[in-house]
Amino acid sequence: MTSERKKSSEEASMVKKKDRILTGMRPTGPLHLWHYVGALENWVKLQEKYDCHFLIADYQALGDYSNDISKIRDSVIEVTMDWLSVGLDPYKTTFIIQSYVPEHAELAMLLSMIIPKGMIDRNPTLKAESALQKDVSLGFYNYPASQVADILLPKANLVPVGEDQLPHIELTREIARKFNRMYGHIFPIPTGLVGRVPRLVGIDGKAKMSKSLGNCIYLSDTREIVEKKVKQMFTDPTRLKATDLGHIEGNVVFTYLDAFHSDATEQENLKKKYTEGKIGDGEVKSILTKLLNALLGPIRERRAYYQVHPEAVREALFEGTEKAKKVAAATMLEVREAMKITGYEDIKNIKKIIEKYSYEE
Ligand code: TRP
Repeated sequence: MTSERKKSSEEASMVKKKDRILTGMRPTGPLHLWHYVGALENWVKLQEKYDCHFLIADYQALGDYSNDISKIRDSVIEVTMDWLSVGLDPYKTTFIIQSYVPEHAELAMLLSMIIPKGMIDRNPTLKAESALQKDVSLGFYNYPASQVADILLPKANLVPVGEDQLPHIELTREIARKFNRMYGHIFPIPTGLVGRVPRLVGIDGKAKMSKSLGNCIYLSDTREIVEKKVKQMFTDPTRLKATDLGHIEGNVVFTYLDAFHSDATEQENLKKKYTEGKIGDGEVKSILTKLLNALLGPIRERRAYYQVHPEAVREALFEGTEKAKKVAAATMLEVREAMKITGYEDIKNIKKIIEKYSYEE
């Protein structure tokens, strides 16, 4: 080894290993503004400091769309395009297709043996989601267990998620502790990390932005579509003309301005003018449209690049998935050894067990 190379490898071993992040999304359609302010905006920053693993949870998506797998297949690519477009950088982070790393399913199965059923029954997020389904499948019911496996497989330390996912993180912590206690210390106890905007209403003012409610602004929407959607937003129903005193509370346009305005003082001024009847709805909407299009501008540019470079999309997916496969295999080896689900191929073991169970006449 040249002295220079030796030096750099010494330096590398001195640098503290970066904490690992794992988080993911179900591929069930194109991503929208809530995904951005609730998650992606934060992920883009986190990738600079952490060893980030971002999972496209297509196995988990089967819990919602086992009857429409082509939708999941399309969405895997759509989500990847959205991730790349917002600036997630496959050279810094690891993109993973869940179904291509079968260890996810294997660890989920093993862990589900030590997850008390009652813990799943009491999971408030699962309860709320199950209420929306007609026939809840066993696979869907078990998805919190699969999520525990997603997080523990790469031994993640941090899990950035929306508020609704916190019960799954709590479950992960309990099960990691239990596993470590029962079989030996393998897993770090991960911590959840909630984003800047835990919830964003849809353009119709309904509780949340959601594809099934048809109230989304997508990251892939054109300038014109964004303008049209902002025009449709509810403002203050009591206000008939611009000089009427306006209300901020429950006003969808202002909810969005709060989430997207980067200049707090200007935002306060705007609210003041609005409540004093000094600015019209149209003007406020055009400010919001400009802000959103400024945010989406660079996202659209990156998307245009990847649209004509599909091979780069493939590379992002597969380089990451290959890396994750190695990490997964290493963890599963440890898990099998810890649980003693191993050694059947060893002739010494075979002999020992035969002896143990053979009785002399
Ligand atoms: N449940 C998450 C969602 O609905 C996706 C997901 C799968 C996830 N595995 C995960 C999130 C692990 C955080 C950690 O989008």
